[in-house]
Formats: sequence, C-alpha cells, structure tokens
Amino acid sequence: MSLMIEAEPNVRLIEDMGSYKRITGEFWTARQRQMHSIHYAVSYRASFKPELPNYFIRRYCSDPVKDLVLDPFGGRGTTILEANILGYSGFSNDVNPLSERIAYPKCRPVTISEINKILSRINLDVDADISDYDRFAPFYHPQTYRELVALKQYLRKNRTDADRFIEMIALSRLHGHSGGFFSVYSFPQISVPSAAQARINEQRNQRPDYRPVKPRILKKAKRVLADFAPEELAQLRKVAEQNVFTCHDSRCMKSIADESIRLIVTSPPFLNKADYIQDNWIEYWFLNIETEPLRKLIVQTDDLEEWSEFMIDSLREMLRVLKSGGTAVIEVGEVRYRGKMVNLDEIIAELGCSVGFNIVEVLINYQQFTKLANCFNVDNMKKGTNTNRLVVLSKP
Ligand SMILES: C[S@@+](CC[C@H](N)C(=O)[O-])C[C@H]1O[C@@H](n2cnc3c(N)ncnc32)[C@H](O)[C@@H]1O
Repeated sequence: MSLMIEAEPNVRLIEDMGSYKRITGEFWTARQRQMHSIHYAVSYRASFKPELPNYFIRRYCSDPVKDLVLDPFGGRGTTILEANILGYSGFSNDVNPLSERIAYPKCRPVTISEINKILSRINLDVDADISDYDRFAPFYHPQTYRELVALKQYLRKNRTDADRFIEMIALSRLHGHSGGFFSVYSFPQISVPSAAQARINEQRNQRPDYRPVKPRILKKAKRVLADFAPEELAQLRKVAEQNVFTCHDSRCMKSIADESIRLIVTSPPFLNKADYIQDNWIEYWFLNIETEPLRKLIVQTDDLEEWSEFMIDSLREMLRVLKSGGTAVIEVGEVRYRGKMVNLDEIIAELGCSVGFNIVEVLINYQQFTKLANCFNVDNMKKGTNTNRLVVLSKP
C-alpha cells in the first residue's frame, strides 16, 4: 500500500488500495449545525450530517427533472430533504415507518401562522384517558401526559401537512435535557426504559414538573423554520410534491422502477446491536406504531457474515434501480469486531464489486483529531473518532 500526502488543501492522504484509491480529506466541515435549520428538527440514531448528501448531490446531479435521488435506508430523511433543498426530488425508503413520519413533514414545512392556527384550535385540556400513566410517570407530570394523550388523539384523526408538521415537532420534544422538552431531564436521542429514567431521577433528585405542550411546540417550530424566507418554503414544498416515501425492505424496493435513479446516498444499519425498537419506544407510542412486526423487519445484527449477506442483497437491489452510469454512495464506519478494528468500507467495496458495481473511490471525511500530527498517522486515523467512510460505486 503506498501512501502520499496531497498538496491540495482539503486532501490529507491518498492510499492506493489496488483497484481504487482511498482518499482522506476534509470534504465538508466538521462544525455542527451549519446547514438549513429544518435539518435539525429531530434527532435520530446514527444519522449523518446534511453536508454529506449535499456534497454528493452537487457532485453527481445536474438535471433537476431527470436526476432522481434515493436513500434506501432513509432514517430521518436527510438525503431526500437536502435533495429537495437543492431542487431535486426522489425516493426515501426505510423499513421503519417512523422514518416517513419524520421525513415527510420536514420536506413539506408549513408556516408559523398555520401552526399557530391549529394549535389554538386543539383543546388539550380534556379529560384524556391516562390509565397507562405508570409507564410514563418517571418522564412526565400527569398534566403534561394528559396533554400528550389529547394531542395524540387529535393527530390520529387530523392529517393535513400542518398537522403532520406539528406531530413531527412534538416528536422531537418527547424527551431531552432542557426545559424545551416535555419530559424531565432525560436523554434526547434514545427513549430510556422507565426504570432507567426512575434511576436518573433519583440520582439527579428530580421529579417531572408540569411542561405545557403547546408553547414548546411553537418555540421549537420557530427555530426549525428560522432559515426560510416565505417563497423558499413554498418552493421546497413544490419540489417535494414529486417525492415518494416507501417502507420496503432494502433488499426488495418493489415500487422503484429498474434504472430510474441517478444517485443513491445512504447509510445502512451499522454492524452493532443498536436497538431501533427499544430505543424509540416513546416515539412509537406517540405515533401509534406497532413494534412487534417491526422486530422482524429491521436488520440489527452484530454478526459480520449476516450483515454482509444483507448488504450483498441490498447492493444488488441498488444496482437494479440505478441508471447505467449512476452512482451509489454508501456511508459506513469502522467497528471493533471480535477484538479487531474492521473498516467496513473495505467490505462494502468488495461486496459492491462482487454484485457488478465499479468502485470509483473511497472517501474518508477527515474530522477532528486530538493532535495535528495524527492527521498523517495511518494507525491513528483508523482509531480516529467520528469518521465517515464513503464508498463511491458506479453502475457500468
Ligand atoms: C444508519 S440508519 C440511517 C440514518 C440516515 N442516514 C439518517 O441520516 O437519518 C439505518 C436505517 O436503516 C433502517 N433499516 C434497518 N433495516 C432495514 C431494512 N431491512 N430495509 C430498509 N431499512 C432498514 C433503520 O430503520 C434505520 O433508519
């Protein structure tokens, strides 16, 4: 393997991997929250930064009418939203219905006055059934919980874009660490089990206080919509009319036609035990999503062989839907597996090749290292935190 340092300012290292090059550089900023405010509406497990799809959409798409973009593992919808912001539309797929409930409203934002109008119409001060309050008692004051149940009931029957936007904003407020959340201090990214929350309360000597729901929704909505001029909001909604949200297994995305997609930007489930069901239990409750059927559908394995088989079938399906000359960008990380560091980019490159892709290159987005000198130390790079490894594949 030969190594060289490139003179180009954003490239730190080029590794010759045989049939392709692996390039480490600063392709987008390591700074947080630099993109459109709408992107930061909801946090989601293992999501990537909007800079990542932005970089590849600008690089590989040129015709907003013909160039459709797809994310087969859509998550919180960062790829489709960034595509829409740049004027492109396409597909966002995820086997988990939670994904669509987040991604659709982000692509179809409404104005603050529409949100205000709806909030002032909904009566949350009703005698809602709170018979299952015990499960939620470590998180919410009984009155906050009553309001959440009333909101949930309203949203079951009312499904305009404005209702769905309010639902998505409320989803983002369910639990977290500041006064802007409905819950007492908790973790923002995962719903911890009730017993764990009770322990947090004990350690912090805290009890859930009353947190009125409506003003928190309004405040967060204002922040999320802050970057929109009125005409931009309408423009985004117009582009997003062409989007299709699907809930297929990535191995068989049957409503996506052969050779229809120009660019895929995606991040598959990681090779770890992240539990997408347990870790979102409050979100599923709020959205009335049944979790038992999901257990069988969501792939979460820490077995490399099983993961590789799943990825082969998913890559084959990506190859089917891509146009000839189209590009698939697969973001993975490095993981510790049976005591060794495994670079999943090397595995994806090999699997991609085996199903018929060409490997264009692998990009490693350089983030922060504790010492500048570490930038040039390959070993440290492997251990470096927060790297995005992007395997760029093309369909012949
Ligand atoms: C790493 S996350 C993607 C995050 C996304 N890039 C974002 O920024 O939000 C992986 C996603 O794969 C989804 N997933 C798991 N198994 C799947 C399957 N068999 N088919 C499609 N999606 C699946 C999970 O629900 C999860 O949302």
